[in-house]
Amino acid sequence: MSLLTILRYPDPRLHTVAKPVRNFDDRLKKLVSDMTETMYEAAGVGLAASQINVHEQLIVIDISDTHDDLLVLINPEIIWTSPEKTVYKEGCLSVPGIYDDVERHTQITVRALDVTGNSFELKADGLLAICIQHEMDHLLGKVFVEYLSSLKRDRIKTKMLKEERRAQKTSNSSPKR
Ligand code: NI
Repeated sequence: MSLLTILRYPDPRLHTVAKPVRNFDDRLKKLVSDMTETMYEAAGVGLAASQINVHEQLIVIDISDTHDDLLVLINPEIIWTSPEKTVYKEGCLSVPGIYDDVERHTQITVRALDVTGNSFELKADGLLAICIQHEMDHLLGKVFVEYLSSLKRDRIKTKMLKEERRAQKTSNSSPKR
């Protein structure tokens, strides 16, 4: 397994629309296991392939504290949403350190394929439902900050770019390993 690099907002590649997965082969299995390891290492509860610059409809999610409840969603479709909505303070591995309120459907039913290509349906609520909707947005090229006001979004953009420049400076001045 290997760790993958997570794209950081406002990287324009995060706005790429993902294509369906067609081949349920060893490459896909390796990608799923690398994404899972990357998500656990970054202490995230979900990761979409878009975030590691692979523009295919693939998501890994694990909302457990114990890292033993992995959910893999391939070519997911939301087939039902509750009329009720919930506001939750979301974060994202592509926008580190930023948390803000986003409104989502409280419950959803999603249809997806597993890593072997078998179709299944899942009814989700609570954090899992929020997480699935957040990750599915990534596959459409949408980052959660796009739900915020343009003023907030611009502030986040500036902060992210500043941090990126600072990180580059630090890595240039430190000895090569
Ligand atoms: Ni995210």
